[in-house]
Amino acid sequence: MEADKQKVQTEKVQVTDRDLSEQIKAVTKESHVRAENTELMLAFQRGNINLQQYKLLLCSLYKIYEALEEELDRNASHDSVAPIYFPQELGRLEALKKDLEHFHGQDWRKKMIVPAATLRYAQRLREIGSEHPEYLVAHAYTRYLGDLSGGQVLGRIVQKSLGLKNGEGLAFFSFPTVNSPNLFKQLYRSRMNSIELTETQREGVLEEAVRAFEFNIQVFDELQNLVSISEKNELRQRHKAHTLKTPDVRVSQSSELSSSLTSTSQLLRMLLGVCLALAVGMGMYAF
Ligand code: HEM
Repeated sequence: MEADKQKVQTEKVQVTDRDLSEQIKAVTKESHVRAENTELMLAFQRGNINLQQYKLLLCSLYKIYEALEEELDRNASHDSVAPIYFPQELGRLEALKKDLEHFHGQDWRKKMIVPAATLRYAQRLREIGSEHPEYLVAHAYTRYLGDLSGGQVLGRIVQKSLGLKNGEGLAFFSFPTVNSPNLFKQLYRSRMNSIELTETQREGVLEEAVRAFEFNIQVFDELQNLVSISEKNELRQRHKAHTLKTPDVRVSQSSELSSSLTSTSQLLRMLLGVCLALAVGMGMYAF
């Protein structure tokens, strides 16, 4: 009896170890730490963000979710996608459209700034949607479970740091049809674990999950670079405006100086004239 109980427990542990959700979490652990510690994510965590950073992030997220959700939709009935297909609960594209429209107005599409790293990420999503739909779970896990975890805290920080009111510009962080993110994550993990994969496919999914984190890290780094470049340009512009003002002062100083020099030479010329007149007068007198 005791031996049977022991066997079941061992089997249970073995089954748990085989769970895709556990494996994926384990292989991406180190990548998660690196993603959390990118300059952009650290700035978010410290509440040290500005509107420009947030708007840039929204543009990139739009391109990423556009590719991810289009590929999930296209493969909705695929055996490896159907169990984790939750467009109503998780879909982010409409929320992102709403946020972008809030900040950029109706013609937000024309104002999109998307770095190359984001385009590469979207390109990879489209590639696996066509060639390896079973890898989509790796990308869906990385984004959606992240949004339901640390993303919730980030949403509150963004709201506070940027002083956004009534949820305006924050639709991305809100999942109105998910009552409990924790319970939903549990459901999602059990659905992930129900996907049947060959050993090769499983290895491919785990590799793809690490790659998904890598894509996110590259996007964050490039966005942060864009922000730094634009901040440097702004500083340079301000410096230029300042140095343009300074020569004005010099010009006016030098013109003042030259006008005073002119008046000095005029005075000297006048004095010379008086002396000459006196000398001539005295000379005439002497004769
Ligand atoms: C400011 C940065 C971040 C913070 C503070 C943060 C924090 C967290 C926390 C507290 C959890 C819950 C851990 C647990 O339930 O055991 C979590 C889970 C997760 N995060 Fe993040 N995170 C951040 C960035 C990211 C990024 C950039 C991604 C990916 C793009 C990501 C993807 C995930 C995923 C997939 C999970 C679910 C892990 C699992 O339960 O299997 N996170 N995060």
